[in-house]
Amino acid sequence: MRIDVLTLFPQVFESPLNCSILKRAREKSLVEIVLTDIRDFTTDNYRKVDDKPYGGGPGMVMMPGPVFDCFEYVRGLSTEEGRVILLTPQGQKFNQAKAVELSKENSLILIAGKYEGFDERIRSGLGAEQISIGDYILSGGELPVLVIIDAVVRLLDGALGDEDSAKDDSFSEGLLEYPQYTRPEIFRGMKVPDILLSGDHAKIAVWRRQQALERTKKWRPDLLKDEKNEN
Ligand SMILES: C[S@@+](CC[C@H](N)C(=O)[O-])C[C@H]1O[C@@H](n2cnc3c(N)ncnc32)[C@H](O)[C@@H]1O
Repeated sequence: MRIDVLTLFPQVFESPLNCSILKRAREKSLVEIVLTDIRDFTTDNYRKVDDKPYGGGPGMVMMPGPVFDCFEYVRGLSTEEGRVILLTPQGQKFNQAKAVELSKENSLILIAGKYEGFDERIRSGLGAEQISIGDYILSGGELPVLVIIDAVVRLLDGALGDEDSAKDDSFSEGLLEYPQYTRPEIFRGMKVPDILLSGDHAKIAVWRRQQALERTKKWRPDLLKDEKNEN
């Protein structure tokens, strides 16, 4: 998979892309992540990428010129068209199903906004899909881009140490994950449930399923409703 990121702050990505699963996935060439600085596509001495909103109001808006030029340059780097995603709080809310869907693509182009957001012609003119990572406002699209990259890359074949770990994760089957324990067997008087020490894998699977259902009912009943609505 190739992921292109268009951003005004490529330095934000340095540490997250060079740690843990993302680092390993890049080293194993499961994914190539290419950062392109939108500011490199300005044409004036001040490298200006934003301007005041027409009609007045607070803040600055991202100008269409540098974003379009940057986008056209990035498109030209690859033979794949790439699925184009604009990060915006006004987009469709990101979830695990969307992460699975995106992990099947060969190429993604993710565009991070800043300031008061994008000039509307960027949204309409690029014909991009819009994704939000939740109903709150961040100061830029870099963290949302990283959220999407992390959620997608861990689903690529070979990215995780154990291929089954993503399968049991919360949301992948529409439920929260069952409770997990590791050593020691007793910690400050709290004991690991006997069933997990029994060695009976069939019974453990049933117990885990029950636990997953119970905690989903208790903590995230909305997930069960979503499942019913989808069926
Ligand atoms: C301060 S926000 C602009 C918000 C914009 N004025 C609005 O009300 O829709 C600046 C940039 O951060 C990113 N951003 C902020 N919150 C986000 C969210 N919840 N999901 C995705 N991107 C977000 C977007 O790229 C956005 O263009």
